[in-house]
Amino acid sequence: MTLVDSPRFTPHGLDHPVEQLKPLRFLRTLIRNPLETWPQALFEERSLWLNFASRPLLFVMDPALVEEVLVSRAEIFPKAPIVQRAIGAAVGTKSIFTAEGADWRWQRRASSPPFRHSTILGFVPAMETAAAEMAGRLAASRPGEPVDLAEAMMETTFEVIVSTMLSGRGQFDVERFGAEISHYFETVGWVAALTVLRLPMWLPYPGKRRARAGNRFLKAEMARVVAERRAHPSPTPDLLDALIAAKDPESGRAMTDMELADNLLTFVVAGHETTALALTWALWLTANAPDVEERLLAEIAEVAATGPITEAHVDRLVYVKQVIQEAMRLYPPAPLIPRIAAEDTRLGDVEVKARTPVYVPVYAVHRHRLLWDAPDSFVPERFAPDRAKTYARGAYLPFGAGPRICIGAAFALIEAVVIFATILRVVKLSAIPGHRPKPNTRLTLRPDGGMPMLAARR
Ligand code: HEM
Repeated sequence: MTLVDSPRFTPHGLDHPVEQLKPLRFLRTLIRNPLETWPQALFEERSLWLNFASRPLLFVMDPALVEEVLVSRAEIFPKAPIVQRAIGAAVGTKSIFTAEGADWRWQRRASSPPFRHSTILGFVPAMETAAAEMAGRLAASRPGEPVDLAEAMMETTFEVIVSTMLSGRGQFDVERFGAEISHYFETVGWVAALTVLRLPMWLPYPGKRRARAGNRFLKAEMARVVAERRAHPSPTPDLLDALIAAKDPESGRAMTDMELADNLLTFVVAGHETTALALTWALWLTANAPDVEERLLAEIAEVAATGPITEAHVDRLVYVKQVIQEAMRLYPPAPLIPRIAAEDTRLGDVEVKARTPVYVPVYAVHRHRLLWDAPDSFVPERFAPDRAKTYARGAYLPFGAGPRICIGAAFALIEAVVIFATILRVVKLSAIPGHRPKPNTRLTLRPDGGMPMLAARR
């Protein structure tokens, strides 16, 4: 049987324009949903030049070119200024996510201890506890009254990140935290529009004051956590302790309190929203594919019987992992990886001038007509470990690739498997008839208006 014979569900897709939108329509669409400005050719060509405000921008989809940009010639393609503008404004321009060169290297090394495989496995009980608590709440929802699964997953992964990386939720106001991050993300379309038009960032735009105030709140919360930790060291070392203890091998200096706060905010933001979205889309896809759901429930029962999911089960929940991988193919939580050419160079047979933005449109690579069978269909079988790989190296990159690959990739996958299995076996989730969630990219790939679903105890 070929893969094409076994698509389980083909979600309703976005209608991509046949060619690049005219300037005014392009800007309006960019502000509303950047994903809708992507022309169909991104899903069919190996690379594509687009003109944004008379400025050429190169999109690369061919896995060999993607590999050059992100891996083998990564030093020639640093992160694009749009990253500094959109993310740097929120988490600082010198945090692990936004820094470059030696400044980035030592922060990456300093942050790595909590991400060792054995350390992550030690976090499984905390992941299971957060998921079981949420499963109980979802199962107790009022019959017929939709729950917002996206919000429920954000709460769960937020709980996990603060309990594993910051030794406990402390005095965090989880709801306020999530709301402020959302307000910030909602303005990202405007940041992108100002960047495209090369306009200064001090210009006003809707939601800017609220986003700024929210950002101040988030930073103040992180500064408070750093100050509290300095006053009261934690009994078991966590990410914050690793960052406090780190010394730059070149200069011997440690991180200032502001750098610590910026990095904590980076980890909290980068480390919970993305995993929550992977879970949201995976649970929604599963609810639409009854035979996938049946196979998942059988696997979970066989591996874990009725007890809690433990670290011993993680590697054996093979089909659960496949479903999460396939959900991240169709709906990559980070749908675009922006870079810029630092010098005049070539990419394949294309001349690229210094300062040209070079973007990897992950969402388009993952649904590319030349790279995947049944590209828009939900087929978890394509990730079966015993099946010969059906896709090219570099065609699947939910966590990026190369030196800047996601530091939390292994953490996120283990966390997603544990939360997914814990929730699925307790809660029967059903899609709302007629509801077609539309992916909207505000840095991350969120379902527009949340993910309303019906929840009941199994
Ligand atoms: C499904 C979940 C996740 C997805 C899809 C995801 C995706 C990504 C991607 C694509 C990048 C690379 C960006 C680039 O090259 O420009 C990245 C970087 C990063 N991610 Fe994740 N991420 C996830 C979970 C996490 C978690 C759980 C953490 C931390 C606990 C985390 C922390 C980071 C950090 C700090 C970076 C910057 C690394 C560097 O530049 O050295 N992420 N992530």
